[in-house]
Amino acid sequence: MIGPMGQIVISGGGTGIGLATARLFGAEGNRVHIIGRREKVVEEAAATLNAEFGEDRVVAHAADLTVVADVERVAGAVGESGDPVDVLVNNAGGSFGNAGRGASLAEIEADYRANFEGNVVTAVLLTHALIPQLTRPGGAIVTVSSIAAVRGPGSYGGAKAYLHAATWEWAASLAPDGIRANAVAPGFTGETEFFGPRMSAEFHASRVGQTLLKKAGTPEEIADAIKYLAGATNVTGEILHINGGAVLGR
Ligand SMILES: NC(=O)c1ccc[n+]([C@@H]2O[C@H](COP(=O)([O-])OP(=O)(O)OC[C@H]3O[C@@H](n4cnc5c(N)ncnc54)[C@H](OP(=O)(O)O)[C@@H]3O)[C@@H](O)[C@H]2O)c1
Repeated sequence: MIGPMGQIVISGGGTGIGLATARLFGAEGNRVHIIGRREKVVEEAAATLNAEFGEDRVVAHAADLTVVADVERVAGAVGESGDPVDVLVNNAGGSFGNAGRGASLAEIEADYRANFEGNVVTAVLLTHALIPQLTRPGGAIVTVSSIAAVRGPGSYGGAKAYLHAATWEWAASLAPDGIRANAVAPGFTGETEFFGPRMSAEFHASRVGQTLLKKAGTPEEIADAIKYLAGATNVTGEILHINGGAVLGR
């Protein structure tokens, strides 16, 4: 059951898209678990949301989801209530390396390992750890990929493209249990930590310029798409693109 009183797990829920998603699910009365590596960030996000809600609905977990022991610890903590997990949002990720032309093999190796660990291993480990706890029937997995999955570049695009394949695999293998799996592929989304120091007025304008709608996406727009897929009872194995028309019809 999603809201009120469902149980939702959101990786990377302390900032950006994950935080907006935690706010959306929490506002409807669900218990929301948010996960991130920086303890202070997830703790402060949970405190802010709980103050907004006027009660403790959001639980913070400091964990690195590339580390098996951390994933097992989070899965154990989520399971303590005995309630099943209604929605798993695999949102943690980022652009962790970009070895360009002329990079050494060692630099290319580091880039590919970082992006596949940060975007693929995080989602795969958390999903497998929580599959036993997903609501049967009715559970939902929503994974955040990227516009980069269908237009590149490099290791980040490849890692996000794998998340589409993972979504199809999970949709097929978990359908007999009544569990659905879908993905949201965001385009340029502002108000996140994703771009870090790369963000500037010129960078922002160039990304907006790639869209038909001439606007930056917002975390709330992506959260709305995640919420839709979490509750879309006849949708599984789909990729929902939210990109202002920057890429059409894939
Ligand atoms: N912003 C965009 O334009 C855009 C476009 C397409 C796709 N996306 C995708 O959207 C998702 C959310 O990103 P965002 O834009 O909201 O940026 P963000 O603010 O940087 O959020 C990423 C979150 O993931 C967490 N995280 C990263 N690695 C982790 C790990 N190993 N273990 C646990 N948590 C981890 C980060 O927290 P810690 O650093 O504290 O761990 C952070 O809270 C990402 O998967 C990103 O690739 C974003």
